[in-house]
Amino acid sequence: MKTFIVKTLGCKVNQCESEGIARTLIESGLEPVDGDLDAADIVIINTCTITAKAGMQSRQAVRQAIRAYPEARIVVTGCHAQIAPGELHDIDGVDWVVGNGDKHKIPEMLRDTASLPLMADESLHDRTDIALVDRFQGPPGIAHGSRTRPFLKIQDGCNAFCTYCIVPHARGRSRSMSQDQVIAQVGQLGRLGYREVVLTGIHLGCYGHDLHPTTDLYSLLCRIRDAGAVERIRISSIEPAELSDEIIDLAASGNTERGRLCRHFHIPLQSGDDGILERMHRPYGRDYFKALVLRILERVPDAAIGVDTLIGFPGESETAFQNTYALIEVLPVSYLHVFPFSPRNGTPAFSFKDQVPFPEVKQRCQRMRELGAKKRMAFYERFVGKAVDVLVEGTRDRNDLRLKGLTDNYIPVKIEGPDAYYNTRRKIRITAISGDGSTEGVVC
Ligand code: SF4
Ligand code: F3S
Repeated sequence: MKTFIVKTLGCKVNQCESEGIARTLIESGLEPVDGDLDAADIVIINTCTITAKAGMQSRQAVRQAIRAYPEARIVVTGCHAQIAPGELHDIDGVDWVVGNGDKHKIPEMLRDTASLPLMADESLHDRTDIALVDRFQGPPGIAHGSRTRPFLKIQDGCNAFCTYCIVPHARGRSRSMSQDQVIAQVGQLGRLGYREVVLTGIHLGCYGHDLHPTTDLYSLLCRIRDAGAVERIRISSIEPAELSDEIIDLAASGNTERGRLCRHFHIPLQSGDDGILERMHRPYGRDYFKALVLRILERVPDAAIGVDTLIGFPGESETAFQNTYALIEVLPVSYLHVFPFSPRNGTPAFSFKDQVPFPEVKQRCQRMRELGAKKRMAFYERFVGKAVDVLVEGTRDRNDLRLKGLTDNYIPVKIEGPDAYYNTRRKIRITAISGDGSTEGVVC
């Protein structure tokens, strides 16, 4: 039996796709092997290109795989394979370079591995133009991660072309899994015993706009709730302009309702300065964002609101940075993800003139991260002494061997307890905030 390994860089969407490819290969009779222990006949490297560094790490991963598995056929796919196929093709030892447009064909390509031809040259010329791909493709992508809260990819691509972002070039236009297929996948996960599913995609707020007839995320979430196959559903991230009051209200309904949307919204702000937002080509301003956060908390007072910020965009003066800082400071958001801007070749912002010197970017990121830590602490503190509903994960903390779990509003909680608590929901009283960015509690 032929053996294979899939190595994945980048985001959850890439992980979902890798698991989808692996599952299809297993169904075709190939055997997955442990990356560190065994030899493999085929190594698939699913790359990322979000920054120049991610591209470099992808190339490194390819070289490492060639060294570690000298006998294996090497297949390179993913976003870096889409953006820079020639660069990967030039690495001695690469057999196939498969862009995102053809990624879903990999299992078919590898089905008869004995006759797998060395086609690196051809694979360069036969690539599907990703900009023309208009249908959701591939085997259903589910990343099992912690094995308690699987991620299901329901959408791919993006039409927004923010001026710093390479993703629309790497993944093409927005396209969605059909509602029926999403319902079937969530139903299957429910039957497998999962209590929560995280819906993921590149631009989830565009879900359904490409389908015939068109639909949207709200109507999908309603169908998932009505089907009630899982206890809770989470959306991984949603753009500010696409988080409607209807969606917010779905999270406001009772905690016991099956299929209810988690009280957790992860919203990319990027900058709190209107001038910078405009240069980023983001379709909202700081006042809109502020009103959105306040509206969420008015309707869902205990909601977790996570915010992405992109710091040091070209032209970001100290005043513009302060506008971002001050906006976050006044808003009761729960946590921040802080990303330093790094110019990505192939995007307009790469050649914007007024780049911020890197030491300045670093220092601003540090200030934002400190603010983020304070926000997180303040959010957790609100729940100390309170009883919360926790979905306990299927693994223990590696260091202290306690059980780990997550509330629907994204508070990590550690408790003492037996293995029988795995994948169950428990009422937990939060007793303290622990030093490791988590909280601790006791079973009520
Ligand atoms: Fe990139 Fe903007 Fe699309 Fe997000 S919305 S994937 S940042 S282009
Ligand atoms: Fe990277 Fe592509 Fe995801 S660029 S972050 S793997 S969408």
